Parts: sequence; structure tokens; C-alpha cells
Amino acid sequence: MIRPALHLKHHHRRPGSGDPGRRLLNTSATVRKRCNFVISKKIILDCDPGMDDSMAIVMAAKAPQLELLAVTAVNGNYPVDVTCVNARKMLELLGKAHIPVARGMANPMVRPCPSDPFTHGADGQAENFLPDPITPLSPLHAVDLIIETVKAHPHEVTILCTGPMSNLAMAITKAPEIKPLIAEVIAISGAFGLNRYAFANATGDTPQSEWNVYVDPEAAKIVYESGIKLVALGLDVATHFDVNFSEEDIEAFRTSSRPEAKFLHQAISFVHNRGFEAYCTIIDCMAVGYAIDPTLVETISGHVGVETESVLCRGMTVLDGRHHHVWTHLPVIEIGAKADCGRFLQLLKELVLA
Ligand code: BDR
Ligand code: CA
Repeated sequence: MIRPALHLKHHHRRPGSGDPGRRLLNTSATVRKRCNFVISKKIILDCDPGMDDSMAIVMAAKAPQLELLAVTAVNGNYPVDVTCVNARKMLELLGKAHIPVARGMANPMVRPCPSDPFTHGADGQAENFLPDPITPLSPLHAVDLIIETVKAHPHEVTILCTGPMSNLAMAITKAPEIKPLIAEVIAISGAFGLNRYAFANATGDTPQSEWNVYVDPEAAKIVYESGIKLVALGLDVATHFDVNFSEEDIEAFRTSSRPEAKFLHQAISFVHNRGFEAYCTIIDCMAVGYAIDPTLVETISGHVGVETESVLCRGMTVLDGRHHHVWTHLPVIEIGAKADCGRFLQLLKELVLA
């Protein structure tokens, strides 16, 4: 049978009063005003901070539409001991130290950690050199915190993965019964060749890989094949050059009294000084933006395989976009195809400066 392999879902809407993203924000504000509470989406942020993971923590912790239940740290941009410290530094900066941070996997599932061709600076936070955290880590391992949190809130928890998927893959391997209990996984994951940014901005250390999949491709394969609803926001959308700040934006961050805005300003200077564009400072934020407002990114459904064996293509996420002879045994996932970068940036700026 001849049939299209990809199915476009039209999530994209015109900005304005009828815009669902605005409606979501306005509705939340209204609900909070009338009832003094916000009905929010429960999330776990599984991350490897990292400057952009740190900004994802800012958005996740400040958005009234989200309830950040836990931050689970994993090896990735830096060793897990550093990512645990950086996650707590960020929550303390925000006055949100009550949110638990758990230490996760120190290594990918079956291979050593590769070195990152991109640097997040000496402290992993664009050399912001925040004060050392005083909050203790959760007594639970990240894998167990994920399992317990999902079981405590069946069908309610969305897991945002902005680092290698080692923690989540281990959690669903250890406790497969949680798979149907996870509402959704939204990940910064992969590169699908949908536009020139997908591979031109490859973050892994092969020509066409994205860092989070490249570091632990076996973990990504487990999650992709798990049957859990997965939305993979790849480099196609998350490193699009339209994800950028104006001079006015940068000045607003510099002059803001909010420490997280100053953090972002330093991160932008850090990447500019190394010849990169500002998108590098907020790649992971798109997962949080999508969790807040799924209309920010149009997605397509497609069969995707994760390459785990090749040296040249390690970590490549291969979308079978053929019209004929599609490998239907590959799992079907949702893939970020087109982001409304302007509205995403607006949401991010509002949260950072608030
Ligand atoms: C990913 O690579 C990491 O360096 C970033 O934190 C982001 O999660 C993008 O490929
Ligand atoms: Ca990351």
C-alpha cells in the first residue's frame, strides 16, 4: 500500500487574542487570581547542567503552568557530580531549594562517556561561578526518584529529558511497570534532517549526531522503543538560528535585577566570545517551552531508529521518511518540525525577567 510516512499535525497558530499560547498564560493567571491556585502540569526535569539545562531549570521552576516535582541529574555535559552541584546552584539562585535534586547515572549504559567538543566553561555554567550549594542531595538515586514519583502520580507526570537518557532508560528497565504510568516524555533529542540546522549545528562528535543521543545511544534506543509517548525536539528546531536575542533583549538581561537574567547575560557573552550564536544558551529551554505550551512547536509523527553501532554515525536518529518500503518495525515518535521561535523567545524572556 502506498501511503505517506509522515503525518503533519497543525499545532501552529497565528499570534493574537485567539492565540492558544496566550490563552494558556491568561487562563493560568485568571485561575490563580480567582482561586489562589494554578492547575499545573507535574514534571520531572532530567538534565545535565550545562548552561542551557540551567536555563531550562529557570523556566521549569518559574512557570506557573508547571509543577516541578524533582530535578534528576545525569552525566552528560559534565560528570554527574558537577551536574548535581549545578542543578542545586540554580535552584538556590531561584529560591527554590525545596525542589529535590537527585544524583543519577555516572556513565552511559554500556560505554564510556565521550568528550564534548563544545564547552560550557570551567564550572559548566558559562563561568557564572555561582556560590556552592548548601542544600543536600535527595537521599534517593535519580532512577529511584523517577520511579517513585511516577508511581505516586500515575498518568500525571511528564518527564523532560534535556540530557542523555541514561536515568530514564534505567528507570524503565528497572521498573517497566511505570511505562504506561508516564504521561509523556519531552526530550531535547536527535537531529532529523528536516532543515539545514539539524546537521549544521550537530552537537555530538560525529557529523550528524545530537549530543544527548550521541553520549548514550543505547539509552535513547530503549526510551524511543519503550512505547511511552515521546516528543523529540531535535536540533532542527532547538538550534534554529531564529532562536536568537536582539540587542535590546540582551540589554534587558544585563540590567535586570533578577539573578537568573544576569546568569543568562553572562552565558550569552560566553558563547559570543567563542564565536557561537545565542541559541546555545537556551537549547534545552525548548523542551520546557513545549511542556508549557505545545502549540509552540509543530510536530510530525515518524518511524525513527537510533544508530548504536556505527563509528561514523553513532547516535544518529534516522527518520524513515520514505514514501515506500518504510521500516514499520521502527518505533513511531513525535518529532519537532517547526517552532514558533518568536513566541518561544517571548515566553522565555517573560519567565526570566519576571
Ligand atoms: C544538547 O547538548 C547539550 O550540550 C545541551 O545541553 C543540550 O541538551 C543539545 O544537543
Ligand atoms: Ca543538556
